[in-house]
Amino acid sequence: MIDRLTKIIQQTIEAIENSQKQIFEIVEESRAQYKIIEEELQKVKKKTDEIIREVDKLTKLEKDIRYRLMIVNKNFREHSEEEIKEVYEKAKELQLQLMIKKNEEQILIEKRNELELRLKAARETLKKAEKLMSQMAVILGYLCGDLRNIHLQLEDIKEKKHLGIKVIQAQEEERYRLSREIHDGPAQILANLVLKSELCEKLIDIDTEKAKKELKALREVMRSSLQDVRKIIYDLRPMSLDDLGLIPTVERLIAQYNETSDTFVEFKFFGEKVKLLPIVEVAIFRIIQEALNNIKKHSKATNALVKIEFSDNNINLVIRDNGIGFSKESLRKADEDRGYGLMSMEERVTLLNGKFEINSSPGNGTKITATIPIDI
Ligand SMILES: Nc1ncnc2c1ncn2[C@@H]1O[C@H](COP(=O)(O)OP(=O)(O)OP(=O)(O)O)[C@@H](O)[C@H]1O
Ligand SMILES: [Mg+2]
Repeated sequence: MIDRLTKIIQQTIEAIENSQKQIFEIVEESRAQYKIIEEELQKVKKKTDEIIREVDKLTKLEKDIRYRLMIVNKNFREHSEEEIKEVYEKAKELQLQLMIKKNEEQILIEKRNELELRLKAARETLKKAEKLMSQMAVILGYLCGDLRNIHLQLEDIKEKKHLGIKVIQAQEEERYRLSREIHDGPAQILANLVLKSELCEKLIDIDTEKAKKELKALREVMRSSLQDVRKIIYDLRPMSLDDLGLIPTVERLIAQYNETSDTFVEFKFFGEKVKLLPIVEVAIFRIIQEALNNIKKHSKATNALVKIEFSDNNINLVIRDNGIGFSKESLRKADEDRGYGLMSMEERVTLLNGKFEINSSPGNGTKITATIPIDI
């Protein structure tokens, strides 16, 4: 379903981008068209100017010759017939030329006017196309942005679904591990104890010394079994969270960690110890536990720091190590069988309306930051 939606959105974006290309082509075409008309108009204008000048010149010449003709006519006795005829001919020729040129002038002026109108229209079209293009760009920006966001949101939903399944899987694995632990540890031992206590019961009357010895061994077994049970309870939910509060519990966790790890973890706390909501306390405790597991399992770090800070409205948690670090790509590559430690940390923080960030790169250690609102 999500894959189909993603495909549809991808196609919509492609279609929109295609129309943008087409609009761009329209703008380019009308710009070219405008240029052609402009060049033609320049040529026609030049020719019109030339012909206007010629017409002016001819008009003047024709006026002169008409004047001469008038003089010749007035004083026709003083001029020979040849002379008079020549002036007549000249006047006629000039009139003809003038008529032709005036005609040409008229045609050119009409052409010029028409080109000017066409240029104006082309300018309007170009303006409109350019406006459309910039409007389209804005609209496309919004649209594509929004659609891409939807696309990202869908990816996010997909990821969340994936994460949800992973979390359930993880819970099931955890339950399986606990049931095995109880089965192999305390349950076996209890079964054994039942048998041994029956043996003691029988022994008491026959061999008191042996019965005593058996009872002592029994007590040892019960003691170690009690430890196992305590560990299992602690893994389920550290009681000390309720009894002592978050900070002493974390201190204790880190002290225990330092006893068995090659990495030395320092703990820093700033602020006033306020009582937090139990789910927030558990979340912080589990994130630290999970991060310390990762440090032990992957980091090869010599030093690490766990810092908790209570500010006015937030709890800021930082867990940093100086180990080998990792790249985000390496996480993505192994997507299918990637662990759920980091994902479950992020999920816990997100569920509490907080912000979660991982900063790590090969060779530069790892820093995990979580900011959780005190009142969620
Ligand atoms: N502090 C760290 N230093 C170096 N690499 C780390 C660190 N934390 C996590 N990684 C890398 O990130 C990967 C993912 O960690 P994550 O806790 O999600 O899974 P995991 O530890 O492999 O498995 P899981 O936590 O489910 O047992 C690890 O496999 C490891 O490569
Ligand atoms: Mg892990």
